[in-house]
Formats: sequence, C-alpha cells, structure tokens
Amino acid sequence: MLEQATLSVGGDTYHLPVVDGAEGDRAINVTKLRETTGFITLDEGYYNTGSCRSAITFIDGDQGILRYRGIPIEQLARKSTFVETCWLLIYGELPTREQLRCWSGLFTKYEMIHEGLYKHFDGFPSTGHPMAILSAMINAMSCYEPSLIEMESPATFQIAAARLISKIRTIAAASYKASIGLPIVYPKPHLDYCSNFLHMMFSIPFRDYEPDPDTVAALQLILILHADHEQNCSSSTVRMVASSGANMFASCAAGVCALWGPLHGGANVAVVEMLQHLHDDNVDLNDYIRQVKDKNSTLRLMGFGHRVYKNYDPRASIMKELADNLLGKMRERDPLLEIAKRLEDVALNDPYFVERRLYPNVDFYSGVILRAMGIPVNMFTVIFAMGRLPGWIANWREVNEGGATLYRPRQIYTGGLARDYVPIDERKSA
Ligand code: SDX
Repeated sequence: MLEQATLSVGGDTYHLPVVDGAEGDRAINVTKLRETTGFITLDEGYYNTGSCRSAITFIDGDQGILRYRGIPIEQLARKSTFVETCWLLIYGELPTREQLRCWSGLFTKYEMIHEGLYKHFDGFPSTGHPMAILSAMINAMSCYEPSLIEMESPATFQIAAARLISKIRTIAAASYKASIGLPIVYPKPHLDYCSNFLHMMFSIPFRDYEPDPDTVAALQLILILHADHEQNCSSSTVRMVASSGANMFASCAAGVCALWGPLHGGANVAVVEMLQHLHDDNVDLNDYIRQVKDKNSTLRLMGFGHRVYKNYDPRASIMKELADNLLGKMRERDPLLEIAKRLEDVALNDPYFVERRLYPNVDFYSGVILRAMGIPVNMFTVIFAMGRLPGWIANWREVNEGGATLYRPRQIYTGGLARDYVPIDERKSA
C-alpha cells in the first residue's frame, strides 16, 4: 500500500498519495485535490510547490549539494568542459569520445549566424540592453531556421540544440561589439567554445585577441557552474512556455527574460554595482549591513540568500577560489574582491544572516571574476544565460518527452463581485 497523506477539511477526510523522489525528497500529490475536495492549494512564490518530476539536476539546500545528472558540481568543475556538460545535462550521460567529437563538431559547424541576422544589429541602439537583444535575437534566429521549429526527430532536436548553444556566443559577442561601435568579429572554426567567444568579444580587425589559458579556464568554469539549477525562475519559465508546445527558441528566449531580473540572474550585476558603491563612496561595511537589516529598508545584500540553499551555495565556494586564483595570477588586486570578502565575513558573523541562513550564492563572486576577464558589467547576465542555456534546453526536452502537458496554475480570486456594465455618462470617478 503506497503511503498516503490525510487531509481533514470541511468535516470530511481525504487521502492523498505521497510521492518519493530518488534522493528522499517527498511530496503530497495534489493532482486530484480539486476534483475530490473542491479545494486548490495556494503557495505564493512556490516556496513549497513541486511543478514537475525532473531527472536533470538535484539540489540539497540544507547540505549545499548540487549534482548534474547525479555528478557533483565539484567534480564537473574540476574535470569536465562546458561542451561536455551540455551533453550530460541534455542527454543524461557523459558523452563517449565519438559522441563528444560529433557534438563539438556541430558547435563548430553552426557557430556562424545568417548574414541577415547581423543586419538586426544595425537596428538596435548602442544603448540597447544586451539581455533585450539576446532574447530578441534568439527568436529572430528561429526565423532563419524554420525546419527547427518543428522538432519532429531526435536528429532535428540535436541540431537545434547545438545551433542554439553555439550561436548564443556569436549573438552575445556581436551585441557587445555593436554596443561599442566596433566591427562585429566572426568566429574562428579552430578555436574551442570559450576561446572563440573571447575572440569574438575582444579581437579587432587585424589584431586578434589571444586569450590567456587562465581566462579561458575561468570562463569554462563559470559556464559549467551556471549550466543548470533545477526549477529556478528562468528554467521554470522555459518549462511553462514549452508546455504550450512552443518551440525551443521561443522557450529559451522567455528564459532570458526571466533571468534578467535582479533577484535572479541579474544579481551578478547588482552585486558588482553594490561593491562599486561601497568602494567609491567609502561606505562603512557595518553601516551598510545595518541598513540591509533595517526592516524599513528595501536594501538587500545582493549575492546573498537563496530560495533553496540554506547553506553555502557550492558554486559560490568554487567561484571564491577561482576569483582568488585568477586575480592572483593576474597579479591584479581588485578592491571589490577584498570588499566582497570582508562583507561576507561581516554577514556570516551577524545573527540576522545566521538566523535566516543567508549565505553567498552563485552571484556573489562571479561579477568580480567577469570584471577581471574584461567582460563589461552589462554583459554579466548574458554570460549567465550562455551558461544556463543547456539547462533550459534539457528542461525543454523533458517537458516534451511523452508529449507536453499544458502548465496552467489556478488562483484564489480576490477581485470585485459580479456587477453590471455602467454607461459612461453614469459613471462617477472613484
Ligand atoms: C540566483 O533559484 C535558483 O536556483 C536561482 C539561481 C540559479 O542558479 O538559477 O541560484 C541563481 O538567482 C541566485 C539568487 C540571486 N539573487 C540575489 O542574490 C538577490 C538577493 N537575494 C534575495 O533577494 C533573496 O535571497 C532571494 C530572492 C534570492 C531568495 O529570497 P526568498 O527565498 O524569497 O527569501 P525571502 O525573501 O523569503 O527571505 C527570507 C528572509 C526575509 O527576512 P524576514 O522577512 O524573514 O525578516 O531573509 C531576508 C528576507 O528579508 N533576506 C535577505 C536577503 N535575502 C533574504 N535580507 C537581506 N539580504 C538578502 N539578500
């Protein structure tokens, strides 16, 4: 007999099935709650609601555990590459040598974008936000690949996935070049994924940018760390859009928009802006923390706290070590890194943060690293999107496996009761 939860309400008692996950996570299945009880559940912000079953990523927020398809993030960070991690997330297993060769070959084959797409950049103002451009261009890309809109075969899916992951680099770098009025740089087929992106970002006509191995390795690590994170805001958005039967490009373009917000992927920009303010205005860190803790203040310690992690985000630990190593090798002392470390130290010894189990998250140190790599601040969240794209695609594929079921939540209505239409001459201003 499967375990059941008992619900007593309105004088009646109901039994609801319990669902057990692979890692001991447990849920009460309320799929039939409304038809059997007339009640729905209400969980604003989805603090306690599982939207799906997923086999892609596992997080244990209390233990600070993150695994992609069962493999700990710490191992992937040390041993894998971003291209390999993309395959792992999408297909569930590490690729064989031959699979990786073919997969990597698709990235090279599809790194260019249609010449017509380059013309779009003439239409964007130089002040256009790279996230707006990225979302628009992902959808625009699908106009040039109509055959990829209808995913009628696994082969079509694989090509569409490779095209998107490869071309997001080209689009991102082109949006940067267009924003600073420099010529767009084409990808080079012999360069690896990360080196090619850095080449397109920083090379200029007749002088190629030669990325140093540490910068390439840092970008690789950042992309791996950002590649997926179970049902975060943007991945849930991708699943919501995918559930309507929308194509991969439209779903991922929606994910870009969700990621943009400062409470989500936009936090890496907000962290650096916060650190820059603390540095430029010589703000006393204890005073700043006092403002953050003030109930009347809307100020938040950006890069701190997480809906799931109530322990140190394992990605933040790796990022902190990377920041130390990269800046150490560059023999660059970035005052913002020193401020970040002091801020972390003050916060982690303050009861406000300890009681609420607020720790640094993935965004707390990433911006300092991206700055050291020469990435402009307004491109930070674009880098996050580049990393998260394979996770979005893996979620899109999971929604479509066995046919998408439309995601359509219910609500508790709090508006006005029934009333009649009033002709305009009889209306009184409220
Ligand atoms: C990402 O979901 C994911 O997996 C996301 C992500 C991914 O890889 O996809 O990990 C990437 O988005 C990381 C998070 C980046 N965002 C930030 O760094 C923005 C700053 N952090 C917060 O805004 C906040 O911590 C959230 C939004 C991340 C999570 O907030 P929750 O889960 O909604 O927590 P909450 O607002 O209910 O806070 C609980 C308490 C509150 O205080 P009380 O009302 O109990 O007194 O903690 C406080 C909050 O005020 N709090 C903070 C805080 N975060 C929470 N106080 C000060 N500074 C903060 N950063």
